[in-house]
Amino acid sequence: MKRLNSQLQKDGAPLELILLIRTLLAGCKEISFRVSQGALAGVLGSTLSENVQGETQKKLDVISNQILKDILKDSGYVKAISSEEEDDVVPCHPDGKYLVSFDPLDGSSNTEINSLIGTIFSIAHAPQWMEPDDPSAFLQPGTQMVAAGYVLYGPSTMLAMTTGRGTHLYTLDKTHGGFLVTQANIQVPEDTAEFAINASNQRHWEEPIQNYIGDLMAGADGPRGKDYNMRWVAAMVGDIHRVLCRGGIFMYPFDKRNPKKPGKLRLLYEANPMAFLMEQAGGLASTGEGRIMEVMPSEIHQRVPVLIGSKNEVAKCLEYY
Ligand code: F6P
Ligand code: MN
Repeated sequence: MKRLNSQLQKDGAPLELILLIRTLLAGCKEISFRVSQGALAGVLGSTLSENVQGETQKKLDVISNQILKDILKDSGYVKAISSEEEDDVVPCHPDGKYLVSFDPLDGSSNTEINSLIGTIFSIAHAPQWMEPDDPSAFLQPGTQMVAAGYVLYGPSTMLAMTTGRGTHLYTLDKTHGGFLVTQANIQVPEDTAEFAINASNQRHWEEPIQNYIGDLMAGADGPRGKDYNMRWVAAMVGDIHRVLCRGGIFMYPFDKRNPKKPGKLRLLYEANPMAFLMEQAGGLASTGEGRIMEVMPSEIHQRVPVLIGSKNEVAKCLEYY
């Protein structure tokens, strides 16, 4: 099986980017180990603090954030970091060539039930003019990403990653600590009969998504003429992994509760990296109004509505808008 390095070289990734990715993944391997220790290491449960998003931080959120921050700061490849668990950008090395955004532990409430969680990341070039503590350089559209991916801490630890030459799936071989390519150039099936949405929010949705989901629920008796199945992992990383592997549509749409929160998911370290992976696998990723990767961010923790997955199904959903 091909190793990470050879795949990245084959895809034409520059040496410094390869070294940065390897550094980031070294951090993820440590997270994978901590996560697998669970209650034995006393790492489960919540802290007394909240992050900038007003979410209670789990101990593993804080630990994972610290691991990635330390390893990236020390590397010299990174000028600054933005993280779900940091209020502001974290300045790193003044000569670092890259900006890294990450959700250190997506779906962290799943730690309580020993279920799927993961790290989501994206990497962009750091402009030369930028001071390491300047957040404005992070405010570039997702089309500027040079790499993105996630590490899924499941029954096996898997990596999905793209550098813009297809999306590849890797599996961590714990006998030697390397990620091996287990599926190169994954292609998301264009059609699907599976959808993922938190249906308990239904009364807050806007009309297009109400109508679309209504038609899916009507199944073979409705206008879509077939029965659909529903899945919800409650960790974006788990839901997107399923969609990449066997197709589907994953949605966290705009809802009317709070106009300041247009959707739940964060653009820089959730929506954009997943959109890049999905597009590189032949799928689509939209806010309902346009391509996620073309959204111009106005702040680092910005939220966006997300409709992502199998090409024909996302296109169908967009017809309702
Ligand atoms: O990070 C936000 C997140 O945990 C995603 O991973 C997940 O898809 C979603 O929120 C779950 O939302 P809810 O709590 O509505 O099920
Ligand atoms: Mn998350």
